[in-house]
Amino acid sequence: MNLFEVYPSFDVEPVKGKGVYVQDTQGQQYLDLYGGHAVMSVGHSHPHYIQSIAHQLNSLGFYSNSTQNSLQKQLAHQLTQLSGYTDYSLFLCNTGAEANESAFTLASYHTQRRKILTFTRGFHGRTSAAIAVTDMPQKLAPVNTVHEVVRVPLNDIESVAQHLKSGEVAAVIVEGIQGYGGIHVPNPQFLTQLQQLCHDTQTVLIADEIQSGYGRSGKFFAHQYTHLRPDIITVAKGMGNGFPIGGVLISPQFTPRKGMLGTTFGGNHLACAAGIAVLEIIEKEGLIQNAAEVGNYMQQRLRAIEGIKEVRGKGLMIGVEFDFPVAELRKQLVYKHHIFTGVSGTHVLRILPPLKLAKTDVDLFATALQQILNNMMAVCV
Ligand SMILES: Cc1ncc(COP(=O)(O)O)c(C=O)c1O
Repeated sequence: MNLFEVYPSFDVEPVKGKGVYVQDTQGQQYLDLYGGHAVMSVGHSHPHYIQSIAHQLNSLGFYSNSTQNSLQKQLAHQLTQLSGYTDYSLFLCNTGAEANESAFTLASYHTQRRKILTFTRGFHGRTSAAIAVTDMPQKLAPVNTVHEVVRVPLNDIESVAQHLKSGEVAAVIVEGIQGYGGIHVPNPQFLTQLQQLCHDTQTVLIADEIQSGYGRSGKFFAHQYTHLRPDIITVAKGMGNGFPIGGVLISPQFTPRKGMLGTTFGGNHLACAAGIAVLEIIEKEGLIQNAAEVGNYMQQRLRAIEGIKEVRGKGLMIGVEFDFPVAELRKQLVYKHHIFTGVSGTHVLRILPPLKLAKTDVDLFATALQQILNNMMAVCV
């Protein structure tokens, strides 16, 4: 059977990993500034992570949500400690898109409304409602067009106000930092006004922290750089460091009902063991502070490089914009310098490494980038 090929990919197969490095089938080592798409929070093959999952597998790998699972409570407790959301409750699922679908369902039950307000350049996943609120109209199949969605520019509070005053919007969804859209940080004042508008019109405010959460921004959640306190927060990616797990943090204004949400695999024993280990490592190794410090250092180093148009972001979620498409640059980074990076659109490199990146790794990247740009400029003269 052939694979149903939907992913553009590099001709490299990572088979091993350690910390912020991966190794391919030939033994070649690569610096991982992509983190497997912002997934690797505590890094590859962390001994405590491996041990926790292996230990759990030796006891019980899976049982269903129809019985008790105290690991879910432990995970919720530790998530409370690190995130500061002490009075919120947690629904566990498997992916980011599923977390957002669950958030929309909760918001719609709560308000008895259908419409979702979303922002240009936003990305929220590939399931039906999640892709409908994502700014990718070219990727909508007819079945995804049944959702009621309005989209306005990020930071445009007047447009938000116009829509919310109709009283028809169930929820507004905003990323902590827009990732797919090119690493754009929402304006803090806009978020404050957004919160007030949502409150005044009884609209549910959802922060999608699937990419920007779990310490990546240098705070546990990127919105914690501001005074925003969303009604619902969605998480995934870094939560399991590669083990599929997602979550929805839900404010006390929502009352659970049996059967309101559900999933077979969500919150299973192995996923919880992975999620608990991730939080323990983040705390013990000070990874949030490291992301803030090394991220600042990376921004400084990149700003000193000639040929870069703009550097944006927070912590270890950084966008590096160029005046030209970056496809060739990324190829050279992978094949000549052995550095993985991500991309947003055509002109922005997306940097999303494991949170334990060191300044020496940043130096390697800055030197490689400078060399490639110098060569490119030399060819142009
Ligand atoms: C901000 C954001 N939301 C949602 C998703 C969807 O997550 P998943 O691919 O786990 O469904 C992503 C994935 O890239 C994301 O970056």
